[in-house]
Amino acid sequence: MQQPGNFVTSDVAGEPIVVLRDKDHTLRAFYNVCPHRAGRLARDKGSRMSLQCVYHGWTFDLNGKLMQTPYFIDVENFDPDKFNLIPLRVDTWGPYAFVNLDEDAAPLAAWWGDDFDRIRGIRWDEWRLVDEREYIINVNWKVYMDNYAEGYHVATAHPGLAREMSLENLYVDTYRFYSTQRAIIKPPFIGNPNNRRYRNPREGDQICYHILWPNFMIDDYPDNLSTNIVKPLGPDKLLLKFDWWFPHDMSQSDMDSMIEFADQVQYEDIAICDEVQVNLQSRSYQRGRFSGRYENGVHHFQALVHRFVNSPNVVPEGYPVRVAEGR
Ligand code: FES
Ligand SMILES: [Fe+2]
Repeated sequence: MQQPGNFVTSDVAGEPIVVLRDKDHTLRAFYNVCPHRAGRLARDKGSRMSLQCVYHGWTFDLNGKLMQTPYFIDVENFDPDKFNLIPLRVDTWGPYAFVNLDEDAAPLAAWWGDDFDRIRGIRWDEWRLVDEREYIINVNWKVYMDNYAEGYHVATAHPGLAREMSLENLYVDTYRFYSTQRAIIKPPFIGNPNNRRYRNPREGDQICYHILWPNFMIDDYPDNLSTNIVKPLGPDKLLLKFDWWFPHDMSQSDMDSMIEFADQVQYEDIAICDEVQVNLQSRSYQRGRFSGRYENGVHHFQALVHRFVNSPNVVPEGYPVRVAEGR
């Protein structure tokens, strides 16, 4: 997406969108909806110096201005200026573009960008994108987020991960619009070294899991990052998009072993979430309880859901304020 004319299509909350780089290298987003009769302007991704609707061929420049209306004859009082593309807010953080359908929303940095960068300091230029995977999971997106927001289940549900981190060392810090779970990696003399992924951790090496409200997560390991984006597809279905980032000099076999390790954890979580999705609807279940130490991240996430559902105009007052830090 660095060159003028590069574009990608997607959808946000059911709205088709196209994001592109214009001739001045500015990133722009538009509804991917032709103002003539609602045809698609672009499909998939690629590179084009204009957008031509796939239906009747109306053509727009990369600023969204209507340029050509082929064979559009016998039309009275037609003002092409009233048929330009409708722009959308677009912002970037690291290599990711974020589109906002709300013209009046606060900028991305006010939600979590600057504060997150200052505290967690992920340097995206130190990493390269190596693999991407998608998972379709038949659960409500909040069931998946609840699961992600706590490591309380690691000892029981993730034997491989439990060899690397322990509950004694796990803390959850909650901020206004994000939370971070962090655990120091167990030293090498704990556990059979042949079963360990991190056989020689450096002092202070830790595993972190960040949730950036509402649906952007980062698995932050000493030797790799993976972003997880949860996209709800319905009340009981979601698409999970995983991107794996590794240091520039990491060997293929080390990268493969990490992807395999994470994939295993992923399927363990999917199995749990599938069952919870069914069980939440059991007549026997009304509500549970949270561990204050280990499930404060779930509480934090659910409190944000509650807040936004009840008052859709939540705005960040100034910059994100730390709410609580694990001991
Ligand atoms: S719908 Fe786009 S040109 Fe007709
Ligand atoms: Fe898990």
